[in-house]
Amino acid sequence: MTQMTVNDRPVRFDMDPQTPLLWALRDAANLTGSKYGCGVGDCGACMVLVDGEALRSCLITLAEAEGRFITTIEGLSEDRSHPVQQAMVAEQAIQCGFCTPGIVMAAAALIQRNPDPSEADVREAVPNLCRCGVYPRLVRAIQRAGRVARRRERISAAPAPGIDMEDAARAVPALRADSAE
Ligand code: FES
Ligand code: FES
Repeated sequence: MTQMTVNDRPVRFDMDPQTPLLWALRDAANLTGSKYGCGVGDCGACMVLVDGEALRSCLITLAEAEGRFITTIEGLSEDRSHPVQQAMVAEQAIQCGFCTPGIVMAAAALIQRNPDPSEADVREAVPNLCRCGVYPRLVRAIQRAGRVARRRERISAAPAPGIDMEDAARAVPALRADSAE
């Protein structure tokens, strides 16, 4: 059994302590925002904050995460109002979105320790792979997020998704409460 804090809540995983943190977050805690891209530490799609540091959760075991404070994309803000999230939307730095959660977490850690990063700083701190190739926009977005964090600029918060479970159920029949019928 492994205990840690995930998104400010105490969590206990009754799993093999050698299980990768990413597996536990996605499959046991249902926090599917962190993505499984490569599983070997190359892509960064699985980045989470561990005691404030952006780390690849596919490379961390539950045993290594014991007692630590984990933040996933779900816990970064309640309403997508984190400066990185606002700037990513404002700069349209998202295409398919698969890499986005990991990039947002890496960028959030960067902005926290250096809210005025150079392009080189961004490229070093956010080495994530994006198969859609949004790299130039990412640099702009992350630097803009820094300006927002420094209160040099304001961006209206990204709009709420506007999708509730009832609406989703209309489009995805399997989500309906009566889907077993
Ligand atoms: S899934 Fe972890 S680095 Fe690719
Ligand atoms: S936006 Fe598609 S992989 Fe990055």
